[in-house]
Amino acid sequence: MQYAIRKRVMVTGGAGFLGSHLCDRLIADGHDVLCVDNFFTGTKDNIVHLMDDPHFELVRHDVTFPLYVEVDEIYNLACPASPVHYQLDPVQTTKTSVHGAINMLGLAKRTKAKIFQASTSEVYGDPEVHPQPEDYWGHVNPIGRRSCYDEGKRCAETLFFDYRRQHNLRIKVARIFNTYGPRMHPNDGRVVSNFIVQALRNEPITIYGDGSQTRSFCFVDDLIEGFVRLMDSPDDLAGPVNLGNPGEFTIRELAEKVINMTGSSSKLRYEPLPSDDPTQRRPDIALARERLGWVPTIKLETGLATAIEYFEELLRERG
Ligand SMILES: NC(=O)c1ccc[n+]([C@@H]2O[C@H](COP(=O)([O-])OP(=O)(O)OC[C@H]3O[C@@H](n4cnc5c(N)ncnc54)[C@H](O)[C@@H]3O)[C@@H](O)[C@H]2O)c1
Repeated sequence: MQYAIRKRVMVTGGAGFLGSHLCDRLIADGHDVLCVDNFFTGTKDNIVHLMDDPHFELVRHDVTFPLYVEVDEIYNLACPASPVHYQLDPVQTTKTSVHGAINMLGLAKRTKAKIFQASTSEVYGDPEVHPQPEDYWGHVNPIGRRSCYDEGKRCAETLFFDYRRQHNLRIKVARIFNTYGPRMHPNDGRVVSNFIVQALRNEPITIYGDGSQTRSFCFVDDLIEGFVRLMDSPDDLAGPVNLGNPGEFTIRELAEKVINMTGSSSKLRYEPLPSDDPTQRRPDIALARERLGWVPTIKLETGLATAIEYFEELLRERG
């Protein structure tokens, strides 16, 4: 790639599930990638294959502290994403979202970089509107156990839009819906990885509630394509833009699919629904379709097969 089009791109949370796939994609596209991570939930295993690439750099850093580097674009993904992890230290979770956003926006302001925020469908809370379009303001509990994550992400969005209004920053806010694929944590309680690991071990598959709550599942490669398209979109498109797969499945259907695909002898085990767990969640992706020409293309069965292969290998390695 020519020097003129090679960008210096920073990915915070770059050693995590989504961040590491984004680093792969940006390196493949010929950019210089600076991966910033404090390894709270991320791991070097996710990026070890990039370490020898001269266009890849890794910095151990906590985004709640300022960082001074020269960059053209910033993808801000740093934040624990699963309830198990973000509830371990809820104060740090809010700090990561809020102080992290302030620090990264400050960096973007100083370097005039374009900045992308990995927001979440959790900003819609337990939605009263279904599917959720971007102009729905959400139904969020400000004082519950999930609030450190949900409200942290909402405040980060506020900061992004205030930096745009006040300082003319070029911002891109994506609201990410449930995404799955290789490099998810094997035991962080997220439904797809949970089910696959339980099925591969022939352990009971835990379903919270009666399993009739629905979720949409987006394969990671589709999502990363959406990230890159949003970052490359015209400056007037700040977002928020929903990115997710509108295909809707009940949790019970997912469990049955995973059992079939792994040939597992696992049985379903029902447990009480945790508080604030949304009953329905599905993205309205009309905006992404119209402005980015983006729609997910990978079928659940295809994505699940790839994820199952990854977890089979991981469990084999761990013995
Ligand atoms: N995976 C999904 O389905 C999903 C859905 C909605 C939003 N998101 C958002 O996407 C982003 C990435 O999620 P993920 O699924 O890859 O989770 P992940 O836990 O695998 O990745 C998060 C990364 O951020 C790092 N990190 C956490 N706190 C940090 C800090 N203070 N400083 C530096 N690094 C820090 C972690 O070590 C990890 O590598 C998160 O912001 C998450 O909120 C993900």
